[in-house]
Amino acid sequence: MIKHIQQCVTGGLTSLFGETFTAADFQVNTTVADFEGDYTVVLFALVKKLRLSPDVLGTKLGDYLAEAHPQLFKEYTIVKGFLNLSVADAYWMEVLLTNYTNADFGRQLPNGKKVMVEYSSPNTNKPLHLGHLRNNFLGWSVAEILKANGYEVIKSCIVNDRGIHICKSMIAWQRYANGATPESTGTKGDHFVGDYYVKFNEACTAEVNELVATGMAKELAEKEAPIMKATQQMLLDWEKGDPEVMSLWRRMNGWVYEGFAQTYARIGSDFDKTYYESDTYLLGKETVQAGLAKKVFVQREDNSVWIDLTADGLDEKLVQRKDGTSVYMTQDIGLAQQKYDQYGIDKSIYVIGNEQNYHMKVLQLICKRLGMPYADDIYHLSYGMVELPGGKMKSREGTVVDADDLLDEMVANAEKEAVKNNAGKPESEFNKMTRAEQQALFNMIGPGAMKYYLLKVDPKKTMVFNPEESIEFTGFTGAYIQYTHARIRSILRREAATPGWQPGAGVLLPLERSLIMALEQYPFVLEQAAAEYNPASIANYVYHLAKTFNSFYTEHAVASAETEDKKQLRLRILMLLANVIRSSMAMLGIGVPERM
Ligand code: ARG
Repeated sequence: MIKHIQQCVTGGLTSLFGETFTAADFQVNTTVADFEGDYTVVLFALVKKLRLSPDVLGTKLGDYLAEAHPQLFKEYTIVKGFLNLSVADAYWMEVLLTNYTNADFGRQLPNGKKVMVEYSSPNTNKPLHLGHLRNNFLGWSVAEILKANGYEVIKSCIVNDRGIHICKSMIAWQRYANGATPESTGTKGDHFVGDYYVKFNEACTAEVNELVATGMAKELAEKEAPIMKATQQMLLDWEKGDPEVMSLWRRMNGWVYEGFAQTYARIGSDFDKTYYESDTYLLGKETVQAGLAKKVFVQREDNSVWIDLTADGLDEKLVQRKDGTSVYMTQDIGLAQQKYDQYGIDKSIYVIGNEQNYHMKVLQLICKRLGMPYADDIYHLSYGMVELPGGKMKSREGTVVDADDLLDEMVANAEKEAVKNNAGKPESEFNKMTRAEQQALFNMIGPGAMKYYLLKVDPKKTMVFNPEESIEFTGFTGAYIQYTHARIRSILRREAATPGWQPGAGVLLPLERSLIMALEQYPFVLEQAAAEYNPASIANYVYHLAKTFNSFYTEHAVASAETEDKKQLRLRILMLLANVIRSSMAMLGIGVPERM
């Protein structure tokens, strides 16, 4: 409707005043409560340009709209520079009747554009943590939102499976494991390897302290610590392809992948393409050599390779170490190229935390300097850190919030909350479920609550995840929306809409209207979410839908509506509503139950 109004207004302005305007020249909002009308055209900007009083402009435009588009506009009022338009009931009815059985309502047809969304992208030296969950939820959701808007989307992940940090857990395993494996210890593979990463850091700190005690400067001691030297040697051996190192590397990464796969399955993350740094770094190194020849990079006396970005207000950046080994940036140079070569993408989105803003800025600039055609299509979807109410955490010390633990806690919280809400209600849907059905429900509600809580916040914002608050069945939570969906579905299970029904002459009541009006906005909301890469607008929207329904349902009956006509109308509203709630939540990666 907003688009219709924008078009009708620009058309009206041209035919009234002979001047061309665009939708950007004025605002269209939903009319604020307490005023008559559905949508409001804000006249101030136009008043200035046309040098007319708000009343004169409003009257001319209002009359024009009512006359030229009687099927859209019923009446209007002008309140101090705001033109409030009441949309004709017939329009809302048509929206409802055309779409109430359409499961794809809001989805756009293919637009021919290809987008890659890279997310998750873990290192293989430790398990996934809370930050990865925000990353996965965000990336997966943005990918789905783009798909709904007609983009062909490739979900991708780069596994940083090599490098100095991976060698650290390998060295620690060699030294301290005595051949132990995930199987022999009954530990999930990624956790098992992560424990050795922690062990490395403990051992390294001990060695550094010893050296410092002999009078060595700390900085030097950190380089000279024997375990550190062994790690650097291992990285060199790895790049040379030393069979023993390679075989340990494969074995340990294999353990990690098994662990990751389990976590991804729990949160519903999937990827169309997985890249591995152990491949991309080779192309990166080649590109560095090519860039050296083109003088984009410079080699220092110690053989290290750099790029000077001072002219762009950044600093000098290392792209290859003096011993010839590749750094984090090296592999990203290769990866950016590979993504483009393999898929011919129009846009390359990187979902990465804001602590890498600088890294991504440098990457884009390097691609530009190298004259890469895709340089401008790289987009860093940067997000803020997420913490628990307890505060900061560090993975080196093993104090990080583990993703699996947190998911377990969420499932347990869901159970507690459901039991609490159904206490003393033996006839409730929940209490009539089998244990297996209840368990499936907890697995849907718990992680769903977490997704919703993390996604309802603007990605850019740093946030605190509060597990207890997130699981509540009332308020701005995923469970509240899931519960609302189950309520609607339970009405629709008992009552079916009669096929072929045509609405009688009656008018729409305000809450019926509010519901249809909100539903009609869904395609627009999806479009906005895609334009801003922001699932929060969908989370907010679906909350608004649920609240509007709950207000509606306190006032109006459906099964025992005042007339058969009202019943048929309301059943159709509920059908579309259930569809849109399901679809919106699906965009966030959250399922909705039939019963709850
Ligand atoms: N593995 C990296 C990390 O954990 C994130 C990778 C992000 N993606 C990229 N193309 N650099 O910090």
